Formats: sequence, C-alpha cells, structure tokens
Amino acid sequence: MWLRVIYPASVLIFMLPAVVNADEANKLLNMCKACHGESGMSRFEHIPNIGWQNSDYLLKQLRAFKTGNRQDPTMTKVAQLLSEADMQQMADYFYLGKDK
Ligand code: HEC
Repeated sequence: MWLRVIYPASVLIFMLPAVVNADEANKLLNMCKACHGESGMSRFEHIPNIGWQNSDYLLKQLRAFKTGNRQDPTMTKVAQLLSEADMQQMADYFYLGKDK
C-alpha cells in the first residue's frame, strides 16, 4: 500500500530541482496538481483533497509546513520552494477550483 504513494512521491522529489530552475509559478502549481489532483481532488489514498478548502486554511498550512510547525516529509520540502506570493496564489487556486 505504501509503495503506491512513496513511488510517485520520490519521483516528484527527484524532479524538484528542474521545477525550481524553470522558476515559474505554474510549474510549481503543476507539481501540486500531480499529487493533489487537477482541482485539488486527489487520486491517491494518502494525499489529502485540498480542492475547495478555505483559502485561509490552505495558506496557514503551507506557512506551517514552511516554518516547520507542521512536519511532513514531502510537504515540508515542497513548501520551502514557495514564496509568500506563491502560497497565496496556490491557496486561492485550490479554493476557487480554477484559474482566476
Ligand atoms: C509528492 C506529493 C505532493 C506534492 C508535490 C504536493 N503535496 Fe501537498 N500534501 C501531500 C501529502 C502527502 C500531504 C499530507 C501531509 C500530512 O499528512 O501532514 C499534503 C498536504 C498538503 C496540505 C495540507 C492539507 C490539509 O488538509 O491540511 C496542503 C495545503 C498542501 N498539501 C498543498 C500543496 C501545494 C500548494 C502543493 C504545490 C506547491 C503541494 N501540496 C504539493 C503531498 C504532496
């Protein structure tokens, strides 16, 4: 059961440097979608749905991952790549369920 999550997660982490070099917010967003689903509805049993979740809540969780107040092997690394503006944009994207 774990392998199904660990495998896609490790592939994505391996790809992170390439994503960062591209330095585009939508590349980062594509990375989120790969795990959390196009509209925030995850296809993976161990990855939470974040679509339609209140944007304040999403922003708070992303900040907590970034500062280390909330720990997760994947999300802690992911959040470190995000600026405050990226986090705001992503929280809005998943809250609204589409591009603005
Ligand atoms: C490799 C897979 C993966 C990627 C990529 C990923 N996430 Fe996550 N995300 C997870 C997992 C797994 C959790 C659950 C963490 C936990 O249990 O604490 C999570 C949790 C979250 C949460 C907290 C949800 C809640 O209900 O508290 C938010 C918000 C979130 N992710 C946003 C994002 C955003 C935004 C991105 C893109 C910048 C992203 N994630 C990229 C796997 C991923």
